[in-house]
Amino acid sequence: MHSSTSTSPSITTPSQVAGRREEAPVIVQAQGISKTYYTGAVAVQALREVSLTIHAGEMVAVMGPSGCGKTTLLNCLSGLDRFDRGELSIEGASLRRMSDRARTDYRARRMGFVFQTFNLLPVLTAAENVELSLLVSGVRPKEARRRSLAMLEQVGLLDWAHHRPGELSGGQRQRVTLARALVNDPAIVWADEPTGNLDVVTSGEVLSLMQRLNQEQGQTFVIVTHDPQVSAVCHRVIHMRDGEIIGEQTAEEQAAGEQDAGAKRAGPEAGEAGA
Ligand SMILES: Nc1ncnc2c1ncn2[C@@H]1O[C@H](COP(=O)(O)OP(=O)(O)OP(=O)(O)O)[C@@H](O)[C@H]1O
Ligand SMILES: [Mg+2]
Repeated sequence: MHSSTSTSPSITTPSQVAGRREEAPVIVQAQGISKTYYTGAVAVQALREVSLTIHAGEMVAVMGPSGCGKTTLLNCLSGLDRFDRGELSIEGASLRRMSDRARTDYRARRMGFVFQTFNLLPVLTAAENVELSLLVSGVRPKEARRRSLAMLEQVGLLDWAHHRPGELSGGQRQRVTLARALVNDPAIVWADEPTGNLDVVTSGEVLSLMQRLNQEQGQTFVIVTHDPQVSAVCHRVIHMRDGEIIGEQTAEEQAAGEQDAGAKRAGPEAGEAGA
């Protein structure tokens, strides 16, 4: 097991693993996804015919100005929210055609989630927070505890397993949420501003952990972020504006210093570090 993850964040360039992804199976295939929110008389078209493909083992960033539809896209692709039009398949199965129950079950078994605000239960210890989803999906308590502790060890928090979230730092809490997201060995992890509440050093620790999980275990990540530190380690950056994907950059393009070009394509606010 790897235990010293938090102390020495070593961020490498994503192009190192670029070759492997091309033959990898498609995990997410979205075609023409549209979604409108109605609040009273006002209609907000949050997604306009969004299409994208994500391969297993990819680490993808989604960027764009506040309100452009990033969270809505994440929620629709992960089945947390419904969309109005379009087709979506995850691991070859159509989420749209699943019943609510089947979709919820699929999500619990095959997806992990990391949000900006940690979403840990304050009365439970780190280990209990991580094992909860296993217990809910019927794993026996002893086995759930064994897997929970193994995952906490992976994120460098074994010594903190019996502490409650209130006794942990922001970075430690976010590492607990990563452990919780990954304990089921999901096909894909969705993260919405995972470093949004963290300082630069702590963000770097969480980021290098995600990168290690991606490189060593081939874990697929889709990360909504305003943080250029995050997008810099992703294989691909998808730029959104006004509910649409307006362009994307590969790791190679990023490495070649085309961030400025991408930011221009995405509009003046796209490269900003805060909402
Ligand atoms: N539940 C909702 N009801 C009504 N409108 C919504 C709802 N959620 C989002 N919207 C609207 O849809 C649009 C896209 O919102 P979304 O939260 O996806 O943006 P975002 O890109 O994630 O922004 P941020 O960077 O600020 O998190 C916005 O105009 C927002 O006001
Ligand atoms: Mg958002």
